[in-house]
Amino acid sequence: MKLKNFSLERYFAKHEFTAKYLLSCSDCDGYSLKYVLEGASKEELALWEGMAFGYTQSEGHTLLRQSILQYYKTDDINDVIVASPGELNFVTMNVLLEPSDHVVAVAPCYQSLTEIVKSLQCDLSYWKPDPEDWKFDTADLGKAIQPNTKLIIINFPHNPTGSYLTLDQLQEVVRIARDNDIYVFSDEMYHKLSMESTQELPPICDLYEKGVSLWGTSKTFGLAGLRTGWLVSQDQSFLKEVIAFKDYLSICSSAPSEILSIMALNNIDRYLQPNLKKIRSNVSLFRTFAEEHKIIKSFISPQAGSTSFVALDIKESALEFSDKMVAQTGIMTVPTEMFEHEGKYIRVGFGRENFSEVLEVFGGYLDTYKP
Ligand SMILES: Cc1ncc(COP(=O)(O)O)c(C=O)c1O
Repeated sequence: MKLKNFSLERYFAKHEFTAKYLLSCSDCDGYSLKYVLEGASKEELALWEGMAFGYTQSEGHTLLRQSILQYYKTDDINDVIVASPGELNFVTMNVLLEPSDHVVAVAPCYQSLTEIVKSLQCDLSYWKPDPEDWKFDTADLGKAIQPNTKLIIINFPHNPTGSYLTLDQLQEVVRIARDNDIYVFSDEMYHKLSMESTQELPPICDLYEKGVSLWGTSKTFGLAGLRTGWLVSQDQSFLKEVIAFKDYLSICSSAPSEILSIMALNNIDRYLQPNLKKIRSNVSLFRTFAEEHKIIKSFISPQAGSTSFVALDIKESALEFSDKMVAQTGIMTVPTEMFEHEGKYIRVGFGRENFSEVLEVFGGYLDTYKP
């Protein structure tokens, strides 16, 4: 198996810890250990203080899996397994796919959702949104299905566009999958991060027996450093294969991360509500900013998630624009090229406290910029 470099992660590796300002992060500011511990119950603190640094259960701490269950219809703990989100994505594709399989995946997307499929030599088709409004049409998904389609990969809330489906559309995805006996891997990493008027979708595993839901603490909770993610599925034999594969990777999760994740999952509003407030107010700031700057060709407000994909009216490539800007102003942006998408876009992330400060510097740069 040959994996191409993960362009987005390599671009972040180059700039994330040296650039003065970050305008494109998909995660919200990370909460401190102090903040997590201050919100913990007496029992959780006792768990924390009594924790031993040994190996942990490969399917995840029982209390963590129970804490996860509260967000799903199922009450069967065997429907849940824990690992880091990127790892679960990698293992799922490896467990489900053979080289003769066809896969349909949303695009543009977080690169690993398609790169791993390609590395397994599967045939890949893309389900793309309308660039005028970033809406996905389920009729296009239906047309992409082939007799050997084994897997549909979706990601709503969608990174990078902030697009979302309606419940009817999600049910239509399930109908298409069920009629053709296809698995659906639903990357729900941005679950619950939605705009005021957006109706939250249920996880796919609540709707479909061959649905696999991925969620974690990185985005919704502002706890990316925990590296905690989980899969929930009614298909327990599939989950057993994932656990067996994981023995060749991380084997089990980090003991302190598991306990801290339990604290967060049992107290979601402590994390989610400040994140929602920040994202919504930053989206509103950016709406005004986009109207004031002609270089921003179009800004389609996100329906959900923490990012949007903003079209620029520029002569150079988006990559050249981003490279130049980070060198001259210290503002890091993620250009289109990191999503292997046509057009000139940058991703804007709304989950950071210093957003207005970054916008001020960004605005100053755009005011003197020649398109
Ligand atoms: C859609 C999507 N899926 C999965 C991940 C991976 O999450 P993590 O970085 O926590 O492994 C990301 C991270 O940006 C993402 O945007």
